[in-house]
Amino acid sequence: MINVLTVLLLVCSSEVFTQTLRFDNEDAVMTFDQLAMKYLEKVEIHDVRTDGGYVLALFRIPGDVTKPLLFVHGAVDSSDSFIMRGNTSLAVALSRDNYDVWAINLRGNRYSRRHDTMNPDIDRKYWDFSLHEFGYHDLPSTIDYILNKTNQQSLSTIGYSEGTASMYVLGATRPEYNEKVKIFISLAPISYMHNAESYMSIIMDLAPVINEAYLAAGNEEVLGFNSPIKALMNALCLQKKIGYEICLLNGLFLLAGAHQREIEPDFFPVIIGHFPSGTSRKNLEHLTQIRSRRRFANYDYGPAGNMVEYNTEFPPDYDLSKVTMKIALVSGKNDKVSTIKDVALLRKMLPNVVDYKVMKSAEFNHVDFVWGRNTHKTMFPYIFKVLNKYQ
Ligand SMILES: *[C@@H]1O[C@H](CO)[C@@H](O)[C@H](O)[C@H]1NC(C)=O
Ligand SMILES: *[C@@H]1O[C@H](CO)[C@@H](O)[C@H](O)[C@H]1NC(C)=O
Repeated sequence: MINVLTVLLLVCSSEVFTQTLRFDNEDAVMTFDQLAMKYLEKVEIHDVRTDGGYVLALFRIPGDVTKPLLFVHGAVDSSDSFIMRGNTSLAVALSRDNYDVWAINLRGNRYSRRHDTMNPDIDRKYWDFSLHEFGYHDLPSTIDYILNKTNQQSLSTIGYSEGTASMYVLGATRPEYNEKVKIFISLAPISYMHNAESYMSIIMDLAPVINEAYLAAGNEEVLGFNSPIKALMNALCLQKKIGYEICLLNGLFLLAGAHQREIEPDFFPVIIGHFPSGTSRKNLEHLTQIRSRRRFANYDYGPAGNMVEYNTEFPPDYDLSKVTMKIALVSGKNDKVSTIKDVALLRKMLPNVVDYKVMKSAEFNHVDFVWGRNTHKTMFPYIFKVLNKYQ
């Protein structure tokens, strides 16, 4: 921590803010659609409206309409994580195999910071959502939109990290959607989190304090793509050499698990160019509640609020037995966020797990699923096989 603070001060005092930041790799500053054009020469941008008036950006890389496939991203992330590896990304690989690729952007992130009547910059109410709303509103609206456009009855989905939790919420709270999913591949599955390890657990334990600070400051958006804190992160993390050491080796890796070979210094700025992408304070608070309460349950409003919202003192659990869609779980042994232990608990609760894979490498961590340099070799063949089997 001292290190980080020292460098922060150093960076702040070094006029770095008066210079334009340099991303050496052009992919770092390209949006999902620009990357799709660069690597595949085709893309479509769709706006999906949810029943609550939220407007989501849904990217499509058109392919065989009988093979629609939806990507669901993780917390403070966006569709970009599935394409930022370019030729060795999952979106590009599946598009080349002629899947009809769709990538959601859940409410509140850089692409979906929009609403029919509310202004995210002004209306605090806009940010009143968590993974519950992702699963209950954003996913159903998006799935219906895709099935309508492709004239199909069902689609395949691939979720990563919090994106998997949102899919379980969908299956549990809107059971009719289970049959619209052919197969759900869950990468780094998130439901229970009380076994999250080491630094991740410290951050999660500090979260209530951070949450209070955000509340006190009236700040409902966290790590927004165009926020001052993101600008500071960019300034810090893009410093040659030092940025890699501070932000990745002594930062991200402490949280996600270290696996240096998989994120090379040349690629790191590409990650920083796309991540984090913003979410609500409530969303992160809901995740920390799931961890501290040791239950995969609805958002906890406190006893009085819960009586109003749920008519019970405690928030009800999400009923995982209702998540009847076919699911393949994929875990990493060095994943400090989605741990093998917690995934084992989830696996026992889900009624229709058709496949379970633990990545072979002892070092495979939380971010290798989407950002890893060799993931196209170590994991993609498995994904192709499972998708094909349940097509
Ligand atoms: C990506 O792959 C395509 C097809 O193999 C190739 O033509 C293109 O040069 C590659 N792009 C980059 C940036 O490597
Ligand atoms: C898609 O939605 C439009 C507009 O609501 C509707 O007219 C059309 O019948 C739908 N198509 C399919 C295949 O469901």
